[in-house]
Amino acid sequence: MATTINITKRTDTKINNVDFNNLIFGTVFTDHMFYCDYKDGQWQQPQITPYQAMSFDPAARVFHYGQAVFEGMKAYKDEEGKIFLFRPDQNFKRINKSSARLAMPEFPEDFFFEGLTELLKLDSAWIKPGVGNSLYLRPFVIATEPAISASPAKEYRFMIILSPAKAYYAGKVRVLFAEKFSRAANGGVGFAKAAGNYAAQFYPTSLAQKKGYQQVIWTDANSHENLEEAGTMNVFFRINDTLITAPTSDRILDGVTRKSLIQLCDDLNINCEVRNITVSEIKTAAKNGSLKEIFGAGTAAVISPVEAFEHAEELFELPEIENSYGSLLKDSMLKIQHNLAEDKHGWRYEVR
Ligand code: COI
Repeated sequence: MATTINITKRTDTKINNVDFNNLIFGTVFTDHMFYCDYKDGQWQQPQITPYQAMSFDPAARVFHYGQAVFEGMKAYKDEEGKIFLFRPDQNFKRINKSSARLAMPEFPEDFFFEGLTELLKLDSAWIKPGVGNSLYLRPFVIATEPAISASPAKEYRFMIILSPAKAYYAGKVRVLFAEKFSRAANGGVGFAKAAGNYAAQFYPTSLAQKKGYQQVIWTDANSHENLEEAGTMNVFFRINDTLITAPTSDRILDGVTRKSLIQLCDDLNINCEVRNITVSEIKTAAKNGSLKEIFGAGTAAVISPVEAFEHAEELFELPEIENSYGSLLKDSMLKIQHNLAEDKHGWRYEVR
């Protein structure tokens, strides 16, 4: 197995054409990309090249069966110019867990970290310091073997591309609780970051968007009673002074932000329960005034407060509150990510 990356640098940069104050999430990419092919039963020599289009055989299995997984991570820069990742070991483990579920080969840990490090060092000018700025990292794996029998590929490409990012959602979001459509089922792939999990949400989400909602909060496929996740985010509900989030399962993504917030609640003496939470419980709480907050949590979205939700044609507006747990948790997490606060759990990973 090869161990060092073959690097081909760009001689110029695209960065001067980028307006960092007006970024639209996921539309601008840095100067370089990382890739590594899998064939003959092993990962080949990793490559870093100028960011560019790639060509694949039309029969590549990813186009036919969606054999693809991905991750979402962020890099931050502090005022001294040091670069940090947040719990990258978790993303590494999860991409391989996702790959295993889609019958794809696991990616080696040294390639993953070497790839991230070299790529971030090369494109470090794209990481702007300051809370609110980050570089979004998108590792992904696709099945490239040109063969259309419905079976796992023998050839893959692992890649990392980088995109400077600000907020994913501008302001608070309005959400619709799912009554008919489902995101995931027991025994399925809901826990994996499988590309198809996201594509399958686009249609129901577009129906919700026509009604004025940005996101759907998915409920379990059997009863549509248990509130699970928001597709691009895990979800937290606050009733009185208790935060509640659903337990991870076959159907729910084991979010890095989610699990970090659960730990931070402990650090900040916020009571957080990990348990099933039902639509009826939330509607009752909204009616009797004990529902104080709902927010989504994810790498891209960070923490996105919900201002209103709809279920069964009933609309509930959430109150404006002081001392929001969402704001408190967001602030303490961003401070850890940006090297502005003590990192007592060892979550920061310095890239050097
Ligand atoms: C992330 O938060 O990194 C995600 O993967 C969500 C993505 C679909 C934007």
